[in-house]
Amino acid sequence: MEDLKWWQSGVIYQIYPRSFQDTNGDGIGDLPGIIQRLNHVVRLGIDAIWICPIYPSPMADFGYDVADYCDIAPIFGNLADFDRLIAEAHSRGLRVILDFVPNHTSNQHSWFLESQSSRDNPKRNWYIWKDAGQEGGLPNNWLSHFGGPAWEWDEATKQYYYHSFLKEQPDLNWRNPAVKQAMCDVLRFWLDRGVDGFRVDVLWMLIKDDQFRDNPVNHGYVPSESSYKRLLPLFTANRPEVHEIVAEMRAVLDRYPDRVLIGEIYLPIEELVTYYGRDLKGAQLPFNFQLIQAAWNARSIAEIMDQYEAALPLGAWPNWVLGNHDKARIASRIGEAQARVAAMLLLTLHGTPTIYYGEEIGMKDVPIAPDKVQDPAEKNEPGLGLGRDPERTPMPWDGSLLAGFTIGTPWLPLGPDHASANVAAMCDSDESLLNLYHRLIALRRGNPALTHGIIEAVGVEGNILSYERRQGNDRLAIVLNLGHEPAQVSLPPGRVLLSTHLDRVGEDVDQGVSLRTDEGIIVRVSIEG
Ligand code: GLC
Repeated sequence: MEDLKWWQSGVIYQIYPRSFQDTNGDGIGDLPGIIQRLNHVVRLGIDAIWICPIYPSPMADFGYDVADYCDIAPIFGNLADFDRLIAEAHSRGLRVILDFVPNHTSNQHSWFLESQSSRDNPKRNWYIWKDAGQEGGLPNNWLSHFGGPAWEWDEATKQYYYHSFLKEQPDLNWRNPAVKQAMCDVLRFWLDRGVDGFRVDVLWMLIKDDQFRDNPVNHGYVPSESSYKRLLPLFTANRPEVHEIVAEMRAVLDRYPDRVLIGEIYLPIEELVTYYGRDLKGAQLPFNFQLIQAAWNARSIAEIMDQYEAALPLGAWPNWVLGNHDKARIASRIGEAQARVAAMLLLTLHGTPTIYYGEEIGMKDVPIAPDKVQDPAEKNEPGLGLGRDPERTPMPWDGSLLAGFTIGTPWLPLGPDHASANVAAMCDSDESLLNLYHRLIALRRGNPALTHGIIEAVGVEGNILSYERRQGNDRLAIVLNLGHEPAQVSLPPGRVLLSTHLDRVGEDVDQGVSLRTDEGIIVRVSIEG
């Protein structure tokens, strides 16, 4: 059996640090809090945690506006806390993946302050500065993801600078070798401290067109969407030159044993897979967000599975993501009952699964009152449903008033159901979603067919999605009822290893099997003869 790397056989768990565990009463999670809760992660069976940005930042975009790449924001702790986190994680066999935000800095980063200070500052060319266009207008039509033009006028030096996101997040100029050098040094800074890999923010957006051509109009745009979608980002994202940069980052990691480069990339499958790079020397895991975007029905998911497997370059390792800090939570998207089916899907698919914190207890989007909104995506374009606060709320650990998250005022409200839907309550309940996650991960760990095995026989019958994972003689059939009606499914003889309802383990399957509404099962198929 082929030896898999930890990032291939393992399960990744994303931590949004502001909302995981507060230890100093400021209502915001911190590094000592993550350390305090590592045992939860370990008990769940996780192999690696990815922590969203923890660097010093004015927090205009909650840490995705970095003011210093080589330090820790005081609200989260300090470098000593970080070293302790690494040591505590490693001693439990857990890897630590950091969020790396190379596309843009904060406008408070010393690099930008220098760059902005005068046109002939040596760092001027570290960012993307342009003269005004005709009649003093914008240099071109490029738009910001958070609404409005992507160009901000600097009155003192009489030029515009480019920002893909907020004006507080100026884009770095990745065509400048000095920028590359400085950012590779940042990677080494953390690798030397023992970090096991990086999730790279908006990796596909790093390079922009060198001729600054206008983006074409998106004729499919509907006004209920973000205004950013009015144009197609042809000249501002997924430029061919980006692959060279990905390969350079990868080369930095390859100087250290066993590290992983993960890319945040929202692109169609055919484009996404190009980020594995030439000779697989790009990202080892270009994040696959297909399940986040898919319509939740058996046919759509089967199609995605087939397309993705077919598109993977030879030797490339697949991965699957169900949720993250930018998208509505899975239980809110598809309902509580289907969230259990989704867990079984995620943890039996071929490739590395990534779990967003709180999905293991079925956290839902928490409604945020207008005066409590924090996210600039909502503040800048209110009412379109773009806000990401609902999926970033504090983790409820127990049934106490503030859920064991803080003794202060939580920076975002706890969910209305936290008194019953919390980690402690679910630990005590045999049928809980938390227990299902735990069992699924244990099954995955204990059965090479689920980690190493090929995936085949993807089939759809009405609301039923089925597939097999096979390793040598071991054959596991996964049958998922994505509908709300019971169904009868034909299956070869075998024995149930797990049901999403957690009650059929050991049941013999003969001619076929009855699935209850919203039920999924894993069956070990008997070896013929
Ligand atoms: C990524 C992050 C998102 C952030 C944006 C800008 O998409 O996931 O949270 O707002 O990049 O850095």
